[in-house]
Amino acid sequence: MAYAKPGLREFPSPESGRLSEEMLAAFDEDGVIILRDFASPPSCEALQKRTDDLVDAFDPRSVRSFFSTTSNVQLDDDYFVRSGGDIRFFFEEGAFDEAGELKQAKAHSINKMGHAMHDLDPVFEAFSRTPKMAALVASLGFKKPLLVQSMYIFKPSGIGGEVVCHQDSTYIYIEPETCIGFWFAIDDADLDNGCMQFLPGAHKGPLRRLNHRRADGKLVTDVIDDTPFPEHLAAPACASRGDLVVFHGRSPHMSAPNRSSRSRHAYTLHIVDEEARWPAENWLQRPADLPFRGF
Ligand code: FE2
Repeated sequence: MAYAKPGLREFPSPESGRLSEEMLAAFDEDGVIILRDFASPPSCEALQKRTDDLVDAFDPRSVRSFFSTTSNVQLDDDYFVRSGGDIRFFFEEGAFDEAGELKQAKAHSINKMGHAMHDLDPVFEAFSRTPKMAALVASLGFKKPLLVQSMYIFKPSGIGGEVVCHQDSTYIYIEPETCIGFWFAIDDADLDNGCMQFLPGAHKGPLRRLNHRRADGKLVTDVIDDTPFPEHLAAPACASRGDLVVFHGRSPHMSAPNRSSRSRHAYTLHIVDEEARWPAENWLQRPADLPFRGF
């Protein structure tokens, strides 16, 4: 078995998509595995090109939304909430000057695009709903998978911000917790440009925080267990274009700012099992005419 860096186990992608017993055992133990060359370079290029076109068509003067895991600014933002059933853009915190103007080119100011490209855009749909992905997800034990969220993450050179250690089940909560994240490298990612870092094995610990909608409609994040994350276990998920990181909803992860001269584009999908209960308190809700779908 090969190791990408101490702690994270990597495998060549299975051609069919189905994980082997060895891969499933590693995923169960670590909560995270890397599958090399899962997506083809042309499919990654097509996704990047389509993203360029969507960015070109977007007027940044229409919004001032930015994304932060260090504050709750996004959570009060109706623009954010409605992105669950739309394709919307979120800026880096350092994108605007005091006068509210972008400090650099639009394409280098965006933190992410989300959260329904996989249902609303044909190029994203084709990337997300492949027979190989369906086979991978089935082999992870999903009975009725639902693709609930997609994000294109830009992590632009120079200003791509830090993402502090968190668990994705904090934001995509389901009972029982069946959320699994799928992170595709669209650009090569390493420590210089702020690659993902995971704490292998730490998914067996508790869910620390829960984001939910209160009775008054306000989104809040409550601490439900204050056990510190074992950040000393952090292992970088160095990845090349087309590599896929599969990670458990409780797997703690983070990334440093991108201080390099290279962007770090990535595409993520979150999948849950339809047989579980989707709480009405989740931030992510779909309009009636755009229900969650499987493959
Ligand atoms: Fe995350």
